[in-house]
Amino acid sequence: MKKDSVFNPWEVKGDVDYGKLVKEFGISLMEDLPNVFSKNLLFRRKIIFAHRDIQRIILAIKNKKPFVMMTGLMPSGKFHIGHMMVAQQMIFYQSLGAKIYIAVADVEAYNTRGLSLDGSRKIALNEYILNYLALGLDPKKADIYFQSSRSKEAQKSNAYYRLQNLLAKHITFAEFKAIYGEITPGKMVSALLQASDMLHPQLPEFDGAVPVIVPVGIDQDPHLRLARDISQRIKSKNFIQLSSTYNLFAPGLSGGKMSSSDVNSYIALTDSKEEVERKIKKYAFSGGKDTLEEHRKKGGNPDIDVSFQYLKFFFEQDDKKLEKIYNDYKSGKMLTSELKRITIDKINSFLKEHQRKREQMRKYLDEF
Ligand code: TRP
Repeated sequence: MKKDSVFNPWEVKGDVDYGKLVKEFGISLMEDLPNVFSKNLLFRRKIIFAHRDIQRIILAIKNKKPFVMMTGLMPSGKFHIGHMMVAQQMIFYQSLGAKIYIAVADVEAYNTRGLSLDGSRKIALNEYILNYLALGLDPKKADIYFQSSRSKEAQKSNAYYRLQNLLAKHITFAEFKAIYGEITPGKMVSALLQASDMLHPQLPEFDGAVPVIVPVGIDQDPHLRLARDISQRIKSKNFIQLSSTYNLFAPGLSGGKMSSSDVNSYIALTDSKEEVERKIKKYAFSGGKDTLEEHRKKGGNPDIDVSFQYLKFFFEQDDKKLEKIYNDYKSGKMLTSELKRITIDKINSFLKEHQRKREQMRKYLDEF
């Protein structure tokens, strides 16, 4: 990694070398999956590119056995198209019959980012949860909770925090340092709480002994390694080993990772059509050549072109159409201005519909 790159569960900066991380972390590249998965764009295009133990979930789906999908969000500013990937996975697993658990990581945000619990709550509700609902998450089949206040039912709440505390005995300080490098008490508490997030669905107070799949970005894998290791050391509990999948990060407009701390790196789901147009035209990194003549002659590079990546990750559902755009851009038949036009129009027609749905869903927010 380059000198100014940072990569840990709390901060990702600079280019990400996925191949190196896959090796270093010991995760598996995604193999070919059953048909139910390939209907989903993210799986079909290998944007969800790696996993640990996904077989257990495939088996549960095949045998129509219950399973849980558990994930969490760190409330951090605007909800952007990069955040949409995990939301789409929630909705996908929900359609396959999974029970969904979603942790709002307000304790983690407090301990590692200095955000107030109140501030986290506002961002989580108005940015994240509202958009999940508008994207199609059924709140009746999802257990959405705040880390700082697990449940109104004492038995459930006790079980969740008890587990977090008991996990602490099964890991050493040296292991913490080996997994995370620099570690603070706040990070330790957050890591143990996240382990409880991922494991507690299996407790008798919750869904009992069911397999759990955790879809995340690859930066979260240290938390998974820790939770997987500790879970097998608590002999009294019989945890089924966690499964997980890893999606690529959505590229930021000018490269790197899309990040809510940099306005010019993201397309937010609240952006107006003028903003989308301005951002794509001005900031979206282009794989085109410097002059029209050169572009026509040598062609562009869709593999590094951010507009093309957005079509591939999110906005062009039709594989044939995507392939044609790929080939036309690569041969020089399609110009950067044309590719950007297609992308702007696709994003804006999606956002128009989405923003309408979001206003309809606002009334359900009170329940949280
Ligand atoms: N640490 C995660 C993040 O930064 C949020 C999170 C909290 C989470 N609990 C989780 C993710 C459980 C997956 C599973 O985004």
